[in-house]
Amino acid sequence: MATNSTPHIDPKGAPIAETILLPGDPLRAKFIAETYLDDPVCFNEVRNMLGFTGTYRGKPVSVMGTGMGIPSISLYSYELIHFFGVKNLIRVGSCGTVQPHIDTYDVVIAQGASHDSAYMEQYGLTGTYAPLSSWRLLSAAARVASERGVTHHVGNVFSSDIFYNADADHNTDWGKMGILAIEMESAGLFANAAHATHHLGYPVDALGIFTVSDNILKGTKTTPQERQTAFTTMIEIALEIA
Ligand code: HPA
Repeated sequence: MATNSTPHIDPKGAPIAETILLPGDPLRAKFIAETYLDDPVCFNEVRNMLGFTGTYRGKPVSVMGTGMGIPSISLYSYELIHFFGVKNLIRVGSCGTVQPHIDTYDVVIAQGASHDSAYMEQYGLTGTYAPLSSWRLLSAAARVASERGVTHHVGNVFSSDIFYNADADHNTDWGKMGILAIEMESAGLFANAAHATHHLGYPVDALGIFTVSDNILKGTKTTPQERQTAFTTMIEIALEIA
């Protein structure tokens, strides 16, 4: 890609791979790069939103923080897709489940992302758009999770703009519609990928894989130690399909 830099990404000549893992926390991106990638180089430090490129089993892979919320992941993923030629974007994060049968540490793979965001209004659609993940990435992730014996759930998540909602029942109401878990980014990422696929004329694939950090119905939470183990399982699924 011809672009040297964007308002939020300045690689200074470092490469960005066609496949990228996207944790919310830039220090998680650093940890993933240092733990899993061979020969990682840093490609972004703008606003401390660290990004790295290396190889995983010989294949180029990047990893970059996105920050929290649809506005943040949307601008980073837009620039990665439109200015740096990224084609596979896999969000890796935590979520809170609103289903009684889903436990902390389970893996949730987002088939779709319902939302309460104004982000979709830009497309001018008369109706309600349902952002979906990539079937190619989704089916691959589900297959890898099954092969590894990882307890996982595939379905609809809810990308919420509000972490501290004034209405305490807001998230659990979404559970009554079968929503598996609450997070804050996937709908924007999936919409960007769908729009770019049409706009650019080649497939741009996006997926969200999550570890369940808390059960909102039961009030159970994971400890930082336990989160790390579950986190490793999720990252390995993402890298396997990368
Ligand atoms: N809400 C939104 N995002 C989250 C949550 C939650 O309860 N838990 C983990 N990520």
